[in-house]
Amino acid sequence: MSNKNFYITTPIYYVNDIPHIGHAYTTIAADVMTRYRKMCGYDVFFCTGTDEHGQKIQRTAKEKGLSAQELADRTVLNFKDLWKILNISYDDFIRTTEVRHEETVQYIFKKLLDQGDIYKGTYEGWYCVPCETYVPESSMGDGNTCPDCGRPLEKMTEESYFLRTSKYQDQLLEYYEANLKAIMPRTRYNEIVSFIRTGLRDQSISRTTISWGIPVPGDESHVIYVWFDALINYLTVCGYPDGEYVKKYWPEVRHLVGKDIIRFHCVVWPIMLLALGVNPPVSVFAHGWWTVEGEKMSKSKGNVVDPFEIAKVYGVDAFRYFLLREVPFGLDGDFSEKALMNRVNSDLANDLGNLLHRSLQMIRNYRNDIVPFPRNFEPIDIELKQVAFDTFLKIEKNMDDFAFDEALKAIWAFISRGNKYIDETMPWKLGKGGDQERLDAVLMTLFEVLRASCLMVYPFIPESADKMWSQLGLEGSPSSIGYAGFEWGAIEKGTVINKGDILFPRIDPTEWENEKMKRDAMKGCVTDPGNHEEEIGIEDFSKIELRVAKVISVDEIPKANKLYKIEVDLGYEKRTIVSGIKEYFTPPDLLGRLIIVVCNLKPARLRGVLSNGMLLAAENAMLNDLALLSPHKDVPLGTRIS
Ligand code: ME8
Ligand code: MG
Repeated sequence: MSNKNFYITTPIYYVNDIPHIGHAYTTIAADVMTRYRKMCGYDVFFCTGTDEHGQKIQRTAKEKGLSAQELADRTVLNFKDLWKILNISYDDFIRTTEVRHEETVQYIFKKLLDQGDIYKGTYEGWYCVPCETYVPESSMGDGNTCPDCGRPLEKMTEESYFLRTSKYQDQLLEYYEANLKAIMPRTRYNEIVSFIRTGLRDQSISRTTISWGIPVPGDESHVIYVWFDALINYLTVCGYPDGEYVKKYWPEVRHLVGKDIIRFHCVVWPIMLLALGVNPPVSVFAHGWWTVEGEKMSKSKGNVVDPFEIAKVYGVDAFRYFLLREVPFGLDGDFSEKALMNRVNSDLANDLGNLLHRSLQMIRNYRNDIVPFPRNFEPIDIELKQVAFDTFLKIEKNMDDFAFDEALKAIWAFISRGNKYIDETMPWKLGKGGDQERLDAVLMTLFEVLRASCLMVYPFIPESADKMWSQLGLEGSPSSIGYAGFEWGAIEKGTVINKGDILFPRIDPTEWENEKMKRDAMKGCVTDPGNHEEEIGIEDFSKIELRVAKVISVDEIPKANKLYKIEVDLGYEKRTIVSGIKEYFTPPDLLGRLIIVVCNLKPARLRGVLSNGMLLAAENAMLNDLALLSPHKDVPLGTRIS
């Protein structure tokens, strides 16, 4: 009996920061693999979660004036929201602060301690006190300085528990020598194997310098090092040691990670498992690193790509498709919205969108929405069927190697073949009084090309595939029949299509440019904040009499192209204000609006009109735009602002 279970994981992400495209990338890839395996008939267990302990979280929480648990409780919502938006179909979401996890970690720590694979020793190293971190000798700066902050390091000695990593190094090497795909891609495999060959040092797995973590059982002055804690999440979700998932899914586990964390996943973790007598992961796939417009993503550069925004602007499926199509999964890649727009236009709107639209339009025009059901087909029709089957095989081969981009290339070659088939068979000629039986064969072949395409693209763009499916007039979802349930030509006679909206509208490059400029400008902070005023006391501020007023009339002033004469109602009196906001607003934008007025400003004459007061607005210099200040809900006219 072939084993049809499949267990896939993502890293569990730190909660010190909000999710960005890097997190989205790994998680989308895991989701695509999950959906694909399910289409192949596998029973899949897909887990993700958050890594909530450790110094980094403790420090960030402190900076924000929160407890570490509060910070985690807030940030975890951002991850869960994002996964919902991106259609991530995980089965379990683990937080390392959950009781089930803390118990598993302590159980494992104690077991390894009892059997002698964990021992207490002393850790000696170069420590950066301001950064609160040990710096390996290999990355120290000149004169024993910290590579991050440049300050001098101190030699520190600290009591610590250690994992006997060295004891298992040969066993691990043997495992890798026997399992060439246990680390993918091959470059990472080679990197890890040669790292192990240089000899492993026992791994320090406890800390006495921080408190935010799982206590070492029986020695509460130590907390368990965050990585020892975090890696165990993959077993916790299986209910280790005796949960049924340990037997069912663990033997089929695949970890997806970024290349930044492979030493933990390919050295420390498998050694923990070997020590526990549990099999190491079937494979760890380490994907590459995304840069943004050619630069490393970083908060200080302000170029961190927000996946919520990208999904909102371009659509979830366009984002999912782009990430997996643009770059081979093991290699580094560069994210740019322009490249994303180009992919949407060429692959989704043009290739796939056109195939769907043209084919359904012809079934509509020539056959009144009813899919024809002919008996005779020509070699070119049968060739398309063959190409479909070859494509399924190529998808399978590539997905086995996590070559998402190659799988997509094969699918798109099929889609292009479909478009070319239309040009070759010229159904519009057949439609105009040509061979009607032949037209039936062409239209049904196109319908089958579309039906097969739906199944193929489903794991990558599930929402769109479901929409296509329903436009084909089919019940349910491609996921409900799976690959084994697909048979060319096996449709119900009299199937009625349900042609609907364009699935992937083409993005106009000029509009895109303008819209992007606006988005960027709205995101940016003021590049030049201008002069700051000297400090004042509250008594100075309270000299300014600010009140809520309502705009009751707006008039032009002869020969003044920037000014409006605005009449406002303060409740207890009406006033005239001359304001230079004409280029930003039309009178209807202003009429009836509540605004904030400086009431005790000395009146001034502007273009012959006496202005008695001033209204408040914020100018957005980058967009040459103006926002009026208003109370956020109704208050009586004349209300004083303080
Ligand atoms: O490392 N390009 O969490 P983390 C591609 N908690 N992928 C990226 C990326 C980028 N620029 N930036 C992040 C941790 N990633 C630990 C993991 S697992 C037991 C504990 C992805 O929040 C990539 O998957 O720093 C990377 O491995 C992960 O986010 C790191 O997330
Ligand atoms: Mg990281």
